[in-house]
Amino acid sequence: MSKQPASRAYTILDIQRMRDTGKPITMVTAYDYPTAKAVDEAGIPLILVGDSLGMTVLGYDSTLPVTLEDMIHHGKAVVRGAKRAHVVVDLPFGSYQSGWQEALASATRLMKETGCGSVKLEGGQRSADSVAHMVEAGIPVMGHIGLTPQSVNALGGWKVQGRTPREAVRLIADAKALAEAGAYAIVLELVPTALAHMITQRVSVPTIGIGSGPFTSGQVQVVHDILAIQQDREMKHARRFADVGGLMVEGLRAYREAVEDGSFPTAAESFYMDERALELIRRMTPSDEDDMSHAERVLREAHEAPDARVEQQSAD
Ligand code: KIV
Repeated sequence: MSKQPASRAYTILDIQRMRDTGKPITMVTAYDYPTAKAVDEAGIPLILVGDSLGMTVLGYDSTLPVTLEDMIHHGKAVVRGAKRAHVVVDLPFGSYQSGWQEALASATRLMKETGCGSVKLEGGQRSADSVAHMVEAGIPVMGHIGLTPQSVNALGGWKVQGRTPREAVRLIADAKALAEAGAYAIVLELVPTALAHMITQRVSVPTIGIGSGPFTSGQVQVVHDILAIQQDREMKHARRFADVGGLMVEGLRAYREAVEDGSFPTAAESFYMDERALELIRRMTPSDEDDMSHAERVLREAHEAPDARVEQQSAD
């Protein structure tokens, strides 16, 4: 068996292999370069540039206002930071709903302009045709069913999906339709644990759950939730693994206090200049007022003097 170098980037084949061998798949969102680097360093194989960025970093109250340009902007930053993780970028609301031609055009832009590895879109049977066309065009696609945030108004709020037999059967059919259309993985959001388990058993591609219990092939979380970056976002399904938001406030408060009490910056945190250059500047500006004609005369004289190099050296 050939051995892959440790630094090789993850592909969708690795994700399928993880599912087939029973290794749980971890995915997390990232919206910028430093977070992508941190996710990579943590060894997480999948990064989602989710349209949740509308709420987590742009301050909207839903994902609906997010544009394709927003996704491209953030997608590019994440791709620059991720060396190993496979980067998936969300198709935002209004960039694919009108049919496969629009979906293909938007996905093509995302792939070309961000350099991401794949795209994600919401919807089951209704999105299957678009998925098939994108896959046919060589674009790997991740599906997303259950609570689909772009349809939050149609769903009547942020609610668990698939609790009734009718809804559950439809979700199973949605998952099957996506897998048959060629989706390489499917996000299950806010689906009851038992139903998420049933769906996972009924499709041959990985399922990646969020608020859908432990029996999916993997888990995805919003980075702001699991690191408590945004203190006011409390989710039942998101454990806080670190209090980054709290640390940020603590650090910023300490910075303000140090500025206010004069302990920042110290000499070691400041820069110095050549004494001779300083003397020249003093001669050029003898008073508080900037007299440029006087300054220019001193500079001319200094250039004619043997130590004319001082000005140039000080600028280096
Ligand atoms: O946009 C997002 O962050 C998502 C996850 C919740 C799966 O779609």
